[in-house]
Amino acid sequence: MIVRDKDFYDRFIKIWDEGAVKDAPFITLGVEAILQDFYGDLSDAPPPFPVTSGARILDLGCGWGRVLGPVLDGGAHAVGLDISENMLNLAKNHLLKNKHKPLLVRGDGTLLPFKDKSFDLVYSLLVLQHLSKKNGRLVLKEIFRILKPGGAAYIRVPGRFAPENLLFSLLQFVSIHLFRLKDPIRMRFYRVGEIRKLCKLLYKNCTITAHQFRPPWNLHTRLTWHYILIPKRFHRSLRKISDKIERLANGPLGFLKRFGVVLMVKVEK
Ligand SMILES: C[S@@+](CC[C@H](N)C(=O)[O-])C[C@H]1O[C@@H](n2cnc3c(N)ncnc32)[C@H](O)[C@@H]1O
Repeated sequence: MIVRDKDFYDRFIKIWDEGAVKDAPFITLGVEAILQDFYGDLSDAPPPFPVTSGARILDLGCGWGRVLGPVLDGGAHAVGLDISENMLNLAKNHLLKNKHKPLLVRGDGTLLPFKDKSFDLVYSLLVLQHLSKKNGRLVLKEIFRILKPGGAAYIRVPGRFAPENLLFSLLQFVSIHLFRLKDPIRMRFYRVGEIRKLCKLLYKNCTITAHQFRPPWNLHTRLTWHYILIPKRFHRSLRKISDKIERLANGPLGFLKRFGVVLMVKVEK
């Protein structure tokens, strides 16, 4: 049973189901899908965590399976879980096309259909950001439950103070509270200290790295999403600057982490 609050989930799942059919790369990755000169091609890109052959790995909120392929290539026993049936169908086709035999399960990250201590590694990329903070906490608890002792999880959340995310929240606030537009998958941002505190309640270790230091790309409104403000010719140099700041933030200048667009949280049980 994946439906807790039927009305909410009917609307929530429908957005992912429809997005999967309309434009799966964009609904899952946003600008990262269209700015390949900055990000590279993220479909079947190397996973941002180590993969051990034979490990049992869960992709929580696997979407159309863009990360599952390389994880399976690494020899892991990977399972993809998603709340949207259409996303899972895309994942199945995407993986079969690349000769993988995917194990895909429909389910809700807040109520995982797996036994306690059944995975060595869990990753969840770009999922928590679309859940309420309360459901986010439930996901963290569920991941803890299904991880084996010594297992690790990698969870990607958007940083609260990145300039791009600040602009995003402002426009989101205006859209929801002034224009009264409903957005069941609206973004939730996390402060470094906030996510660390949440994880430390459950997990033995928690390491946070920050990524993607870039200026705001676009105005996040329904009409302007795809319109990129910064000319393409600057993207490669911006990437170099971003990588440099990333090295400093995750090295000697730790305070810079709070300005990262992306926070990667590694927790160990
Ligand atoms: C932004 S997409 C990211 C997809 C994938 N992780 C990636 O990086 O390409 C978010 C995905 O999470 C799924 N999702 C959202 N809420 C979920 C939940 N409560 N449980 C499981 N999956 C969920 C959506 O259907 C969607 O496929």
